[in-house]
Order: sequence, then C-alpha cells, then structure tokens
Amino acid sequence: MMNSIPLIGDQLPEMTVQTTYGIKKLPEDYKGKWLILFSHPGDFTPVCTTEFVSFARNYETFQRLNTELLGLSIDQVQPHMKWVEWIEDNLGEVIPFPIIADPLGDVAKKLGMIQPARKTSTVRATFFIDPDSKVRLILYYPAEIGRNMEEIIRSLVALQVATENGVAMPANWPNNELIGDQVIIPPPTTIPEADERPKEYTCYDWWFCYKPLDNKK
Ligand code: BEZ
Repeated sequence: MMNSIPLIGDQLPEMTVQTTYGIKKLPEDYKGKWLILFSHPGDFTPVCTTEFVSFARNYETFQRLNTELLGLSIDQVQPHMKWVEWIEDNLGEVIPFPIIADPLGDVAKKLGMIQPARKTSTVRATFFIDPDSKVRLILYYPAEIGRNMEEIIRSLVALQVATENGVAMPANWPNNELIGDQVIIPPPTTIPEADERPKEYTCYDWWFCYKPLDNKK
C-alpha cells in the first residue's frame, strides 16, 4: 500500500521534474541504477554549499557504485544555475549532477521533504532508491546540521552488500565492535533451521550467526 509520502519499502512515485540538466522522469530515468535523491533548504546558503561541495568531491565514488545523485530545493531553476556557477567560480568545484527546481514545493510535499520545523523550505532529506525504484533508506537532518558524506556512502554500500548477499549489516559496519567486517545471517524462522545454524556458521546463539563476506566492495 502506498502511503501519502513514500516510506521505506514503497516505490518512488512517478513524477516529471524540471532540473538544471533538463526534464527528468522519476523513477523511469533512473531504473537499473541506485539513486540518492536529496533536498536542501535553499541555494546560496553556507551549510548547503558545503554539502554540495562534498557530494561533488565524492561523485566518482557514487558513479563507481552505480549511483546517481539528484538534488532538490524550493527554488527556481535560474537560482540553482547561478549558485552552481558561483560554487565553480569561487570554490573550484563543478557540480556534475542535476538539481530539481521545485518553486511551488509540489515535489517536496509529495516526498515529505517539508516538515514542521520549517514550513517554507525543505529539510535535509536523503532518499536512497534502489534499481527497482524502491525506497530503501531515508535520512532526515535539520537545516542547521550538514550531512555526513562518509555515512551516506557507508549506508549505500551496506544496502548494496545486504541486497546482493541476502545478509544484514551490524552496527558501524565494517568496523563492528563484536564481529568486525563480518555480516549477519538473517535469523531462522523454524526449529530445524535453528538447529542447523550453529553447524553452518559461527554463532553467539542460533538467532545471532554471522559469516565473512566473500565479495568485498
Ligand atoms: C545553510 O545551508 O547554511 C542553512 C540553510 C537554512 C537554515 C540554516 C542554515
């Protein structure tokens, strides 16, 4: 069932959006790739500028991870263009990904990016969308706190590894305090399966088994 705003497990709603790189169809244009769709409160603001520089500096890593970036704020397309130009001229950073112009907030409202703390601008929402257009992870940060790029990349890699291997990732993976960079086998759902687990894997108990990862990213 689709909720009024997309939540984890929902499909990204279909929308046609205007961006700094032309019209894009969501989710169609991103099928087969991972997508990080993120909102910022506004162009020409300092924290947002630091975030854009950070996304741009990590762009090659996102590309290597088969992941596209797509920004959004409640601004017209020309301020987006002017701000991106300012970033290039003054900070030497080219912004190589599109930004959605959403001056009426229609896209932001559909995605739950406008929240009670600020009624006229978007919070720092980050949606991780998988190649089948499903929302897999959502992060919300307030206007006054810039996002952590290392955590965004860690979460993306963790999602990809979990999906490809049918496993779950421990806290702070790949530096977990108990099992290091190993991954968790989803708990069994039958008694025979529970009996087999400790024979197949290293376990603290039948419901807490883990294994090394074969194919590391
Ligand atoms: C900023 O990006 O610097 C910012 C934007 C909105 C509110 C506070 C800070």
